[in-house]
Amino acid sequence: MAAGLAAALSAQGHSSEGLNRAVIFIGPPGAGKGTQAKEVARHYGVPHLSTGDMFREHVSRGTPLGRQAKPLMDSGALVPDSIVLGMVEERIARPDCARGFVLDGFPRTEPQAEGLAALLEKRGFRDPVVVHFVVDDGLLLRRLTGRRVCKVGGENYNIYDRPPKVPGRCDNDGGELLQRPDDREEVVAPRLQAYERQTFPLIAYYRAHGVLQDVDATGPVDDVARRVMEVLRKAR
Ligand code: AP5
Repeated sequence: MAAGLAAALSAQGHSSEGLNRAVIFIGPPGAGKGTQAKEVARHYGVPHLSTGDMFREHVSRGTPLGRQAKPLMDSGALVPDSIVLGMVEERIARPDCARGFVLDGFPRTEPQAEGLAALLEKRGFRDPVVVHFVVDDGLLLRRLTGRRVCKVGGENYNIYDRPPKVPGRCDNDGGELLQRPDDREEVVAPRLQAYERQTFPLIAYYRAHGVLQDVDATGPVDDVARRVMEVLRKAR
């Protein structure tokens, strides 16, 4: 973790209090959900559940689910709701989710949101906090096409805004930095369209349920982290 981000989080000083609920990070591709979710989850000692990461793991292991998801992901389309819901249901039933978890990239459609609500109720969780990452479209292309991910540890860099010390190599373990297939410029537009069409309506859905918190996701990572933590602190 970047020293500044660690300081931003520890300054909030309440990790021992636990989370005890579901936190949902929602926002367009490249808004910074994964970057923040990883650190918030670490801060509270709860799992970071990224449906994108789960699918990428299936793809790299060549499972049947991975073979089904890969062409959809590579074209910027969403994976069918029934598959995503089954995968999430299995994951949040594990004991490490009992004290809460951070959902990153899920739900992305209204049927997924309805399915999640039923799962949370079944497991005795109160209403989730939904953090909406608000960011200018202009920034997204730069963040997505500039992203590079460590092949070994999964650490996230950006060649424009968060470059590694040695180009192409991870600061932590020296692993090779790779570009995600769906971060190629020609796939970014269909991903943004899928977001507008299928996920953006969830903003109104969660606002109507009174659980949505807008966060300005522009500016340095540490500043965004402070805003996210403030929202979570107030929502407790
Ligand atoms: P997924 O992996 O969820 O991708 P996404 O939602 O498109 O989000 P990203 O991971 O691209 O962006 P992010 O907001 O996490 O940004 P990040 O922090 O990395 O999904 C991939 C695919 O899987 C989908 O297209 C779909 O096919 C499938 N899928 C997944 N979930 C699904 C679901 N629920 N239903 C159906 N299908 C599903 O940051 C981006 C870059 O910006 C990085 O380089 C980072 O270093 C940099 N950065 C971050 N914050 C800042 C900052 N404040 N300043 C400067 N740079 C920053």
